[in-house]
Amino acid sequence: MMGKQPRGALVVFEGIDRSGKTSQTNLLNGALSARGIPSALRRFPDRTTPTGLLISSYLEGQKNLSDQVIHLLFSSNRWEATSEMKETLESGTTLIVDRYAYSGVAYTAAKGAADLDWCKAPDRGLLTPDLVIYFDIPTSVAASRAEYGGERYEKVEFQEKVRSQFAKLGEGDKRWAIVDAARPGEDIHEAVLGLVLEAVERAKNEPLREDLWV
Ligand code: TYD
Repeated sequence: MMGKQPRGALVVFEGIDRSGKTSQTNLLNGALSARGIPSALRRFPDRTTPTGLLISSYLEGQKNLSDQVIHLLFSSNRWEATSEMKETLESGTTLIVDRYAYSGVAYTAAKGAADLDWCKAPDRGLLTPDLVIYFDIPTSVAASRAEYGGERYEKVEFQEKVRSQFAKLGEGDKRWAIVDAARPGEDIHEAVLGLVLEAVERAKNEPLREDLWV
């Protein structure tokens, strides 16, 4: 009898704005396909859902919301995707996710309006990533990249605060892998692929967990 399909890995990418996550997640998806490893991309915020549309108009500066309200919307935007993500992972597909709850906490905490515990609370119990790849990059390098400066959070001073919140979140988290994202793209890709192939193997023998920050 055939055994059950091994599950896919949940791989999350985090980093400040313009740290290069989007191009690297696309490259990774292609590299996994080329190896016959089923994979799919997802990003948060998912701007296509009703909560995502509100988030998008907030980010574009068309709508003002309190720090608490926008925080909870970002979290809801993840919760509403959870059952679909779970099905995808259990069907054997590795999920590559561009931003997750770590962004949720880092951006709100950087505003100074709420403490870390408050920021973490709404995401407690989300699907737990097998690997979080943190793209570490000096704010000045990210800011020099194209398209920077358009949205609400794209200011160097604020991004500096986000960066130190990310560093705090990574401390003591065994799933957290720091990748130097100021290097040439091919070097970053190689480092990412190595980490992800390991995570895909590990995930085969470990149950999917729903206990983020529990
Ligand atoms: P994103 O769509 O990834 O923007 P970009 O492609 O320009 O990087 O994210 C939009 C912004 O939302 C980004 O500045 C990070 C922020 N954000 C939060 O503040 N909280 C969250 O929970 C998430 C997922 C993103």
